[in-house]
Amino acid sequence: MKKVAVIGSGYIGLMHAQAIKKSKRLALAAFVNRNIQNGKKAAKEFSVPFYADAEEMIKKENPDILDICLPSSLHEHFTLLGAAYKKHVICEKPFSLSSASCRRMSKACAGAGVKLMAAQVLRWFPEYQKIKELLPKLGNLHGVYCNRLAQHPNWTTWHRDPAVSGGGLFDLHLHDIDFLYSVFGELDHVYAAGWKSPSGCWNQVMSTLVFKNGVKAVCEGCCEMTGAFPFSAALRAVGDNGTINYELSAGFNIENLGAASNKLTLFEKGKKPKAVPWKAQDGFKAELEAFAEAVEKNTAVPISPDESIYGIKILEAIERSLETGKVEKIK
Ligand SMILES: NC(=O)c1ccc[n+]([C@@H]2O[C@H](COP(=O)([O-])OP(=O)(O)OC[C@H]3O[C@@H](n4cnc5c(N)ncnc54)[C@H](O)[C@@H]3O)[C@@H](O)[C@H]2O)c1
Repeated sequence: MKKVAVIGSGYIGLMHAQAIKKSKRLALAAFVNRNIQNGKKAAKEFSVPFYADAEEMIKKENPDILDICLPSSLHEHFTLLGAAYKKHVICEKPFSLSSASCRRMSKACAGAGVKLMAAQVLRWFPEYQKIKELLPKLGNLHGVYCNRLAQHPNWTTWHRDPAVSGGGLFDLHLHDIDFLYSVFGELDHVYAAGWKSPSGCWNQVMSTLVFKNGVKAVCEGCCEMTGAFPFSAALRAVGDNGTINYELSAGFNIENLGAASNKLTLFEKGKKPKAVPWKAQDGFKAELEAFAEAVEKNTAVPISPDESIYGIKILEAIERSLETGKVEKIK
């Protein structure tokens, strides 16, 4: 059983803690938060110790894994701290806000001989695992479309600061970009257009992605929907042999995800449309357990730091395209 300390007990830190509590392979060791009231409340709820200082927690609790659930601009600092104390690190997405920062994190953890993984949870969502399994059935792909559309996060203020969150581009759009990259591999170039919020965040992004294997995709990410538009996600792929269509529509601001309308349909040539079921799985528990297994067995982590660095390089190219209005190669 691996001892996991959750750094940051906000929205996602609490979701990770719930997943850890459900797991037979993981033990929640402690919470760290600079917000003492918030951290103490979470620690009481989960019956674990609370620390305002991460170093003190590491020295006293000696966890195996640091689970970084902090505002995105802090990911590098706490990953380097983990490496300095020879702790394995799983870090929420975005890995960091620049590829240079991600490379420093990767180098520090490799040098310390500890594992490092960005928590790209979509790869463990069973719907997306099913989509990945179905795609080869479609044969030669003509095109892929996906989206992720949300209200602006209403539980923080830091998302408004592009230097802390990276805006919707890094905070939300990355989910689909990483998933497409995990399926289709490296890209040749991107072109993007969008809307920048008054505080300087690219919160509406429409990207065209051309993969080296010839697949073309259009991906839309918005973290500032207007009106009472519900949290939604979609993926449609069209190929020689048919089409798959995935649609999720939940409540306002990601509430009621459990009660969301969530369906995947396969339209095969010459056959009736078929609703495709999937086996339920807690994506957060599955990703944390997969990381802990790599630690336990000393095997490669399921998503290498290099893959996540590539994901951030794609975002950097999209951002350049948003700023210049030009087609951008991945550097
Ligand atoms: N995988 C997903 O689906 C998903 C969903 C939401 C957020 N995230 C990511 O998780 C991270 C956190 O987002 P969130 O929505 O949970 O934010 P949040 O603001 O709800 O939580 C962050 C917590 O960190 C604490 N904190 C801030 N600075 C600190 C410091 N220096 N030391 C210790 N604690 C500190 C805050 O008090 C807060 O409790 C972000 O990187 C975000 O992109 C991922």
